[in-house]
Amino acid sequence: MRQARLMAVAVACATIATATVVSTHIVHGQSSPPIYNPYPTGILPSDIASEETRVQTEVAGIFKSYITQWQALTPPVVAGNPPILMNTGYEAQRILGGLLQYDLTISPFQNRACASCHMPYAAFSGPIPSVNLTMIAYPGTLPYRAGKRTAQRYTYSHTFPVLGYNKTQAAFFGGNFWDSRATGYKLQAPDAEQAQGPPVDPLEMGFPDIACIAYRIS
Ligand code: HEC
Repeated sequence: MRQARLMAVAVACATIATATVVSTHIVHGQSSPPIYNPYPTGILPSDIASEETRVQTEVAGIFKSYITQWQALTPPVVAGNPPILMNTGYEAQRILGGLLQYDLTISPFQNRACASCHMPYAAFSGPIPSVNLTMIAYPGTLPYRAGKRTAQRYTYSHTFPVLGYNKTQAAFFGGNFWDSRATGYKLQAPDAEQAQGPPVDPLEMGFPDIACIAYRIS
């Protein structure tokens, strides 16, 4: 009787162990499918993989230097009316900008920061010469998916006005993106509208929801 019960327990344990191994295997297989490269050879620049690694290493290094600066910063004092960040307030903002610009964790595969496509030494455009000469569009977080256009040099984009028609010039001015589609109508600020694009663009950061980027930054 006792032996039979022990046997039953042993069989149950073996069944659970087998099921666990099988299911782990399946889940593992699903989480890392082979990367599908749709392009015939000769289409993509031959150095694309090594160049992406180079840029990623540079971005990670610059991010680390901003972390060091942030840790060394004397916290600014909030004072005045209206309250503003006194003392190191400007430095704090500058460092925060750097932390956001070079943060690779804000892409699902932790391989793309804003700077991956907007690098200061390339006038805030893409930093890979072979891509600039061939694909033009920049590879996003998903392998072999690239953006639609070349990355804009955005140093002045925050000064662009809401998209509007200028009668004297007989032309449209303002808005962000090459086609001005971040018009700024809704928020009365084209760059505030534009900033909601990259995190959820499937060809850039590719998150399913804008909340994901806030979570990663936190
Ligand atoms: C995969 C490459 C890529 C990444 C990563 C990327 N961008 Fe861009 N960015 C582009 C491209 C391409 C455009 C132009 C898109 C268009 O006009 O359709 C653009 C346009 C912009 C513009 C508009 C500039 C103007 O003059 O209107 C701003 C601002 C900008 N990006 C900021 C960012 C920020 C901030 C991030 C990080 C959250 C980011 N980008 C990440 C490729 C990228």
